[in-house]
Amino acid sequence: KIIPVIMAGGKGTRLWPLSRATAPKQFIQFVGDRTLFQATLSRVSDTALYEAPVVITNEDFRFLVAEQARELGIALSGILLEPVARNTAPAVAAAAAFVGVRFGEEAVMQVLASDHEIVSDERYFDAIRVARDTAASGKLVTFGIAPAEPATGYGYIEIGKALPGGAAQVKRFVEKPSLPEAEKMLTSGGFVWNSGIFMFKAGQVLAELAQFAPDVEQAACAAFANATGDLDFTRLDADAFAKSPDISIDYAIMEKSSNVAVVPSAFTWSDMGSWDAVWKLGSRDEAGNVSSGNATLINTKNSLVMSRHGHLAVQGLDGVAVIASEDAVYVGRLDDSQNVGMLVKQLASAK
Ligand code: GDD
Ligand code: MG
Repeated sequence: KIIPVIMAGGKGTRLWPLSRATAPKQFIQFVGDRTLFQATLSRVSDTALYEAPVVITNEDFRFLVAEQARELGIALSGILLEPVARNTAPAVAAAAAFVGVRFGEEAVMQVLASDHEIVSDERYFDAIRVARDTAASGKLVTFGIAPAEPATGYGYIEIGKALPGGAAQVKRFVEKPSLPEAEKMLTSGGFVWNSGIFMFKAGQVLAELAQFAPDVEQAACAAFANATGDLDFTRLDADAFAKSPDISIDYAIMEKSSNVAVVPSAFTWSDMGSWDAVWKLGSRDEAGNVSSGNATLINTKNSLVMSRHGHLAVQGLDGVAVIASEDAVYVGRLDDSQNVGMLVKQLASAK
């Protein structure tokens, strides 16, 4: 069976002010009655295919994770807690160390982001099964999504020779390219987006990390070896974990290893990364507006208007996001959504 490892320690700053330091995007409801984290848990709940999931998150979010899993009645194999945020490479490394001890080094783990909207139909599970078999043969497996635009927030994968079973070799992995680079890859063809879901054997990913990012591997493994635990949580050792560089799994190994494979996938996927993604995924009315909460829209089109507090009335807008949370309001052009993270940084430093 596959061991699901859910990464749920991101800050989600581009979705400010609904996504906050105390409750980032993966733990709040955008659409429907479940949070993105809960939707992720549900996707790995088929016990014929999966063991009980492992969640790796920041110390600050431990109760959100425990409570939201309990709400769904889903038992977890463990909740690993990071004392400080060091991005996804050390998180994956610590989780791999945990999986290795608990399920063995040969166990195949599926690493999932918790900020995705995915339609988990047959096409999705077909891709999962191909990936599992490819990972079992010793590859670091990614899932490739057909690119729709020259987005700069994703990793790009150049597809190489076909491997037996439906996957392909990866010629090149480019994490978060510049716009000109992204445009070039889109016109040249042969590239897919990295979905941010990965599959590999626990021992294998640790060996690759030891080769390409030894500081990360050493810090994470020491933090796990010296972890303290109670019934619900495994707390990684703070001094050891803090020694890890701050780096994502994409930069740490996916760009570097020659052992990466991709499963070209046709399932419906979206990273709920920014307000324009929320607008694209929402149900739009005839004027192209997505609205929620107590909102009145007049003479407005192609806009996202969400109120979590009070009555929000807008007039004469086109392509604008207006987001009112309990205690803050954001107004900005939808095509400028990628820069909200910078705004939040500025707000934090102005405090
Ligand atoms: N435990 C833990 N600790 N989780 C983290 C941390 C951390 O320090 N930082 C981020 N995460 C979690 C996030 O909550 C999210 O679920 C996942 O890891 C991915 O992080 P993002 O910050 O959302 O990454 P990204 O979207 O910029 O880029 C990644 O995903 C893209 C697709 O969505 C990359 O893998 C890209 O290559 C990929 O295209
Ligand atoms: Mg993301």
